[in-house]
Amino acid sequence: MTELRRNLDVEELVRLDTAHHMHPFTDYKSLAAEGGSRIITRAEGVYLYDGHNNRILDGMAGLWCVNVGYGREELAEVAYRQMKELPYYNTFFKTAHAPSIELAAKVAEKLPANFNRVFFANSGSEANDTNVRMVHHYWQCAGKPEKRFIIGRENAYHGSTVAGAALGGMSPMHKQGGKLIPTIHHVMQPYWYKLGGEMTPAEFGLHAAKSLEDRILELGPENVAAFIGEPIQGAGGVIIPPETYWPEINRICKQYDILLIADEVICGFGRTGKWFGLETFGIEPDLITMAKGLSSGYMPIAATGVSDRVADMITANGGEFFHGYTYSGHPVACAVALKNIEIIESEGLVEKAATETGPHLAKRLAEFNDHPLVGETRCVGLIGAIELTKNKETRERFEPAGKVGTMCRDHFFKRNAIMRACGDAMVLSPPLVISTEEIDALMSVARECLDATARDLGIM
Ligand SMILES: Cc1ncc(COP(=O)(O)O)c(C=O)c1O
Repeated sequence: MTELRRNLDVEELVRLDTAHHMHPFTDYKSLAAEGGSRIITRAEGVYLYDGHNNRILDGMAGLWCVNVGYGREELAEVAYRQMKELPYYNTFFKTAHAPSIELAAKVAEKLPANFNRVFFANSGSEANDTNVRMVHHYWQCAGKPEKRFIIGRENAYHGSTVAGAALGGMSPMHKQGGKLIPTIHHVMQPYWYKLGGEMTPAEFGLHAAKSLEDRILELGPENVAAFIGEPIQGAGGVIIPPETYWPEINRICKQYDILLIADEVICGFGRTGKWFGLETFGIEPDLITMAKGLSSGYMPIAATGVSDRVADMITANGGEFFHGYTYSGHPVACAVALKNIEIIESEGLVEKAATETGPHLAKRLAEFNDHPLVGETRCVGLIGAIELTKNKETRERFEPAGKVGTMCRDHFFKRNAIMRACGDAMVLSPPLVISTEEIDALMSVARECLDATARDLGIM
């Protein structure tokens, strides 16, 4: 039997990594110059361990995904049993298996009442590709093929495939060929701290929503197919929209007969203190993107939730939907996701984020509001941000954007804790199992890192 080469020492792993492994979202030249990657060897609860046995407090749940925390024996056992029983079979051509069926039914149970069907993919990006295909298929079936424009938002993140990058509004990605779909447009994001000027958050929420209405009118409502948005923009810097924003977006999509896609890849499965961000913000979508918390990252799996409106139309009029992935509804991934949902339910992790750990995190974050470097703190459930600013009164931003955030992020790194810098917003999204004591430990490190960054800038 071939064993994993676990006997390689850390230096050898770093050497092989630098020589052979091209990482996602990485500057290869600077990674090599800085001595290579940090090697993570194991994890337990909210802690990672690296090759030098440092214990690292993971305030990001991996990449916003390990909702049930690390080291869950139950999930490993389910995967093992499923691999022995049926490691793989596809769900194309009128076949299925119990894990994919049970998971589809379970996810449908969690979604709003008008959602009864799901389509499986392997990543959030793929599920958003599915959304694009499904939106076009829907409007063709509805006899309106001219409805072809899809509108997203600046600074949104919807993944890294061709469609994911084009739907998102990340300009560095667009500059590298990520804007290859000419029918995708972008409108203003609801980022009050950066763009709100003299408006109140409530006024600005309506203003940002109006940018969608204006674009629809410009393109002609008869040509617009869909709008996509994350309930909270995660990678954009945990941008929590003003309360007025989503109800107005609902109204606009309904008025102009435009499908609304809620990208719940981060917000889904408890992150905001409800099962889905759409419940927190009152969003009324037609399609829902899910990934990450669906399996807590233990297996790659994603899904599109399909409303009755869309599913009934393409069932009645669509014939074969020529779309799918070899691993759509992979039995091992589905079995793990099912067990993961069972854990979230049985341990009351969503309620815990709503009533205990979420409010505690919000309170602890708010204590930074009088720090000289902090413009505002934001938090809903267990997702939050500390917005760094050059001037608290005028909300002036640092130039170049992201430099101070990266300095602060590096201080976390040195102290064996993880918070991520999205531009100059320090963001966090810890496992939903995090305790109030662990939140306190993370906040103590955050205080040290903010102070250290302020000292670096000579303002403390
Ligand atoms: C809102 C959102 N959508 C889509 C994606 C893409 O998911 P994946 O990286 O699994 O392709 C992400 C990833 O961070 C995300 O945050």
